[in-house]
Amino acid sequence: MDVLTLGIESSCDETACAVVQNGTRILSSVISSQALFHSTFGGVVPELASRMHVETIVPCVREALFCSGKTLADIDAICVTKGPGLVGALLVGISFSKGLAEVSGKPLIGVGHIDAHVAANYLVHPDFKPPYIALIVSGGHTEIVYTPDDTRKTIIGRTRDDAAGEAIDKIARVLGLGYPGGPRMDAAAKLGKPNSYEFPRTFFQGSYDFSFSGLKTAALNILNQSKMGGGEINVADFSASYLNTIAETLAENCIKSCKQMNCDRLCMAGGVSANSVLRDTMRRHADKNGIQLFYPPVELCTDNAAMVAAAGYLSYLKGVRDELSLNAEPSLRRERQE
Ligand code: KG4
Ligand code: ZN
Repeated sequence: MDVLTLGIESSCDETACAVVQNGTRILSSVISSQALFHSTFGGVVPELASRMHVETIVPCVREALFCSGKTLADIDAICVTKGPGLVGALLVGISFSKGLAEVSGKPLIGVGHIDAHVAANYLVHPDFKPPYIALIVSGGHTEIVYTPDDTRKTIIGRTRDDAAGEAIDKIARVLGLGYPGGPRMDAAAKLGKPNSYEFPRTFFQGSYDFSFSGLKTAALNILNQSKMGGGEINVADFSASYLNTIAETLAENCIKSCKQMNCDRLCMAGGVSANSVLRDTMRRHADKNGIQLFYPPVELCTDNAAMVAAAGYLSYLKGVRDELSLNAEPSLRRERQE
């Protein structure tokens, strides 16, 4: 019997809805991005994001159902992002989902946004399954997680300060690339040489944790010194070198983690995994070490609802059901061992 999950995502500046069959087949995926709107302000304005979600959520869900060729009656579970994210933005998706669950009598399942990013891999790789190591790199997270099976996970490395996405967005802004910084820095780096500028790489003895604040400060120092001295920064070379440093640091800890856990399956998830420098670097390291590497297509790396429906399907199989008291968990934090 096929299981159809409806996914709803509103944790940041994308309102999204999708219908997924058996956690693997996308029947429809609708994403309404507010990025262009927020770019005028140089970043996401939380209050405006919530208001835009309110305006968009109904047409978004209608379109996802229509494009899937299904009706609400066909859906087995309504899965919604519960956190982490912007509280006002999360509440729009959660309140709407609760209403939908109440009127339709369908089960409600709250999904962790980070688990959803990882689950995006199930949508495109039929041979993807545990055990695997996941590198989660988004605007707010940088983690290496070991998943021996679909019920357990252990965080074996995480950032001690900035997330990789934050470190990228901040420097992209100072370089004048604007918002959203990641994709723009990615495009700039394609025209640059990765060894033009030297940046520090931070590693911790006996740990696979990350730290990107030193790298960010080093980059800011180079940019400030150049500005004061009237020098010119080659944005393409700077972007390529900066991204290369981040990618090499991430890849090195991932490969070491795979070796330590004796795991030859590695996946990437989250917005920064759309980055072409990171994808190429991880591919090179994985191939060299005989590790199978998975990552979603770019449109499933950044926020979408198909990943929420895919993660919701795994919870559905485990029997997870939420009450209508489900609340937003803006700082939903993952423990090292779950
Ligand atoms: O997963 P995501 O869409 O939202 C969060 O859950 O945070 O990730 C957003 C992050 C931002 O920092 C954005 O700049 C970054 O992902 N990003 C990229 C690229 N596309 C998105 N970073 C580097 N290269 C990209 N192509
Ligand atoms: Zn995300």
